[in-house]
Amino acid sequence: MKAHKISDSVYCLHADIEAPDLFEGIWPIPQGVSLNSYIVKGEKIALIDLIRDWGGAPKQLADALKDTGISFDQVDYLILNHLEPDHTGWLREFRQKSPKAEIISTAKGINLVKSFYKITEGLRAVKDGETLDLGKGKVLTFREAPNIHWPETMVTWDGESGTLFPCDAFGSYGILGDRIFDDEYTEAEHAAFEKECLRYYANIVASFSAFVEKAVEKVAGLEIKCVAPSHGIVWRKNPKTIIGRYLKYAAYAKGPAEKEIAVIWGSMYGNTKQGVDAVVRGIAAEGVPYTIHRVPDENVSWVLMDVYKSAGLVIAMPTYEYAMFPPMANVLDIFRRKHITGKTVLRIGSWGWVGGAKKDYEAAIEPLKWTSLESLEWAGAPDEATLKGLEEKGRELARAVLAVR
Ligand code: FEO
Repeated sequence: MKAHKISDSVYCLHADIEAPDLFEGIWPIPQGVSLNSYIVKGEKIALIDLIRDWGGAPKQLADALKDTGISFDQVDYLILNHLEPDHTGWLREFRQKSPKAEIISTAKGINLVKSFYKITEGLRAVKDGETLDLGKGKVLTFREAPNIHWPETMVTWDGESGTLFPCDAFGSYGILGDRIFDDEYTEAEHAAFEKECLRYYANIVASFSAFVEKAVEKVAGLEIKCVAPSHGIVWRKNPKTIIGRYLKYAAYAKGPAEKEIAVIWGSMYGNTKQGVDAVVRGIAAEGVPYTIHRVPDENVSWVLMDVYKSAGLVIAMPTYEYAMFPPMANVLDIFRRKHITGKTVLRIGSWGWVGGAKKDYEAAIEPLKWTSLESLEWAGAPDEATLKGLEEKGRELARAVLAVR
């Protein structure tokens, strides 16, 4: 892997992870993910953010560093904006190769260096606004940006090149190959990346949207020429695009998001599915865009993506053993954990010999503060009148979504 020059003194070293693995042990990454590190050179040399030993990342990092003409033992400082192990898992190996490099992070970050990696020497905790002079006029400034998405997170600013290093913030799933910059991608490729960016945001960052807004406020006065995150595209042509995109995503958390509907359904023998089809006919008739996700077939990562950005939801499931269909119970639990609030929602479903999903569902969604339309349940297979009622329910939901502000 080669190094990519951002300025005369700043380089991106990235590792593409294509392993058939899960991000955070949960989220599928069929398009892979990149782990981006950066070299900033003055008289002293700083490496910003690291990697874990994953999918050949150590060799990719070593090759890219070699491409800059720098060896590991020449690195003076390792700056850790965030301690999650995708950026730090290789820290003990790095320390062996760069024994003199001082490790710099927030106080909370330094505590995590000690607890995760049992490294206790050569550490420096920095405070909000503190600077690091690399010489030759190169001064880095650290700004605390807590909870994006761990409590210890900070961003690093290089005023000379106008580069912001925000670690996970402004990141995306997806590997980069030989093209790391926004101006190296076509419109169609950007559209694909944008989807992976939203999925990354919904999976990883959405719960911390208020902190995204605070962090953007904090860097608002900076003349940012390049946003250099630790996952995904480096934005040197249009850095405002990715910042604006993150602000848009952060606003979804407050509702009502896009005037779209995400239909999430599960069915045991097709009776609830018939109801879903009728509801979707009603939604389509009102002209509201919708997405459809079957559980458990579809991984919740993609369900979260569309649910997060949609103002309206349909939750359709049968009663199963006097309670919710278990895969839907699991999805709703993820929604609770990810604070999927402020939605307008229709619940429907079939029951066999007795209901039960309703009570279970209402308890599950209580913390989510959804606006619920009157639900519609039926025994066994839906008859014509029920299907008509369901289609009308779809229309009612679509009109409600169009009316939300
Ligand atoms: Fe990319 Fe939160 O680590």
